[in-house]
Amino acid sequence: MTQPTRSQTFFNEDGVAGLTHRAFTAAMGYDSNDMSRPLIGIGNTWSELNNCNAHLRQLAEAVKRGVLQAGGLPLEFPTISLGEIYLSPTSMLYRNLAAMDTEEMVRGNPLDGVVLLTNCDKTTPAALMGAASADIPTIMLSGGPMLNGHYNGEILGACTDCRRYTAEFQAGAITAETYQAVEENLVRSAGHCMVMGTASTMNSLMEALGIALPGNGAIPAADSRRTRLAQAAGRQIVELVKADIRPSRILTAEAFDNAIRLLHALGGSTNAVVHLPAIAGRAGVDLPLSRFDELSRTTPLIANMRPTGQYQMEDLFYAGGIPAVLKNLLPLLNGDALTVTGTTLAENVSSAEVSNPEIIRSLDDPLAAEGGLSILRGNLAPDGAVIKHAAATPVLLRHSGPALVFKDVADLKARVHDPALDVTKDHVLVLQNAGPVGGPGMPEVGNLPIPQKLLKQGVRDMVRISDGRMSGTSYGAIVLHVAPEAALGGPLALVEDGDIIELDVPERRLRLRVSDDDLAKRRAKWVAPPPAFGRGYGQLYLRSVNQAPQGCDFDFLRGRDPAGPVWQPKF
Ligand code: FES
Repeated sequence: MTQPTRSQTFFNEDGVAGLTHRAFTAAMGYDSNDMSRPLIGIGNTWSELNNCNAHLRQLAEAVKRGVLQAGGLPLEFPTISLGEIYLSPTSMLYRNLAAMDTEEMVRGNPLDGVVLLTNCDKTTPAALMGAASADIPTIMLSGGPMLNGHYNGEILGACTDCRRYTAEFQAGAITAETYQAVEENLVRSAGHCMVMGTASTMNSLMEALGIALPGNGAIPAADSRRTRLAQAAGRQIVELVKADIRPSRILTAEAFDNAIRLLHALGGSTNAVVHLPAIAGRAGVDLPLSRFDELSRTTPLIANMRPTGQYQMEDLFYAGGIPAVLKNLLPLLNGDALTVTGTTLAENVSSAEVSNPEIIRSLDDPLAAEGGLSILRGNLAPDGAVIKHAAATPVLLRHSGPALVFKDVADLKARVHDPALDVTKDHVLVLQNAGPVGGPGMPEVGNLPIPQKLLKQGVRDMVRISDGRMSGTSYGAIVLHVAPEAALGGPLALVEDGDIIELDVPERRLRLRVSDDDLAKRRAKWVAPPPAFGRGYGQLYLRSVNQAPQGCDFDFLRGRDPAGPVWQPKF
């Protein structure tokens, strides 16, 4: 005998419980016909405090239309929205809170399936972390990237050009009028940042994971095909419910390998190296950092995307989109992985075509033989660190130089542009206490600014090292996610001005040329910084957050609910 669905358990319960469930649903205008249908939740991260997600209400209407067409009952509900631009001290501090919100709303309500609307950087991994733990049929749907910015015949991209033009302005290379014009012409439409930053990366990886429909990654927010994709997601979630295809059948080790391959082929954001292990941890899949490096060495970079390459998401869409990238990558992928279309990844991309081989290259003609990210180890990062070598100045990928240490973000801000700062282009800039605990929240400050005195000398890149993250739209010889972090007494905490640091990306090495004896003496004197929070969510965060290689999830959130996705009557 088949088990009753979660919604039927709810609506058909005996006695006063069933009566109230039906009567109070009828209060919203729904009748018994509506209540006999699969109940589909539309989890919406719409918010006017999140510009990237501010158009998601219209998209939710299209999802509802699709659900109704397929015979379901759509009910929309809000979840926390994490706006990258607005939230302080960093949206990453709240990713796990958002994941908890999604998980508990999905599990606690009598939903049979859910479409999760996301867009800005953290909203996508947070929602999928929650959905993976709740484990009812799920389709991820993003809001899509912004259209390209245009200024003076040049294509502008958020926020790679925010940084580039700010550096040029600080160097005195452009006028205040030009700087103002860039600001006015940068963001043309709704959507998320349109270079291959974190949002573009994560929303594209949803296709490789098989948890979003083909097209999710690159269809621009302003394109009517995005609305049609939303409608299709509404229809398809009803089919997934009927077939009982849940995230646990889709988010397998093979699916994560597919996502990592796509990450490398796109030259995607370093933030995926935090988010994917967090999602995998919810799905019960072991995903060590070493897997990223193994697959990087055998996955060519084939997408010519900023900040690594030249093009942006709108161009990628016209060139064939993520399905075309996946089709070219197919010989390296697990093509038989199940997806939310109900068929395999290989079937999903079988009709995709590359219309511009300058943007989407073939495996025989890649932009680089290996992927865009490397995992580094050594006595400075015993548990690993990450560099997006594809976005670095090549000559800096093998570099030794004296450390110039900033003890935290406040120290960095106070001194980095001081004309008296004793710094040369050969220095290695080190930022301590920017990790998951020390930041707090592992803020995107790892792309330390080049000191203004060096900018004026024409320096545009230096080796920079921290336990923080950087925006996926950033570029440079930047080593991130050093683990264990400084605030927990990791070796990064022991670095002093003048120590020689050796970076060797081809050898995947990050070394501090200080003897073990000297490091032990420094460790004996080391004092942990005071905790950033003494109460509330912040205190829970500090107590429970894992280090970057484990995805910075809370230790008590990994895995699924052992009770499974069955909805429990509450009376
Ligand atoms: Fe939302 Fe860039 S600010 S993706």
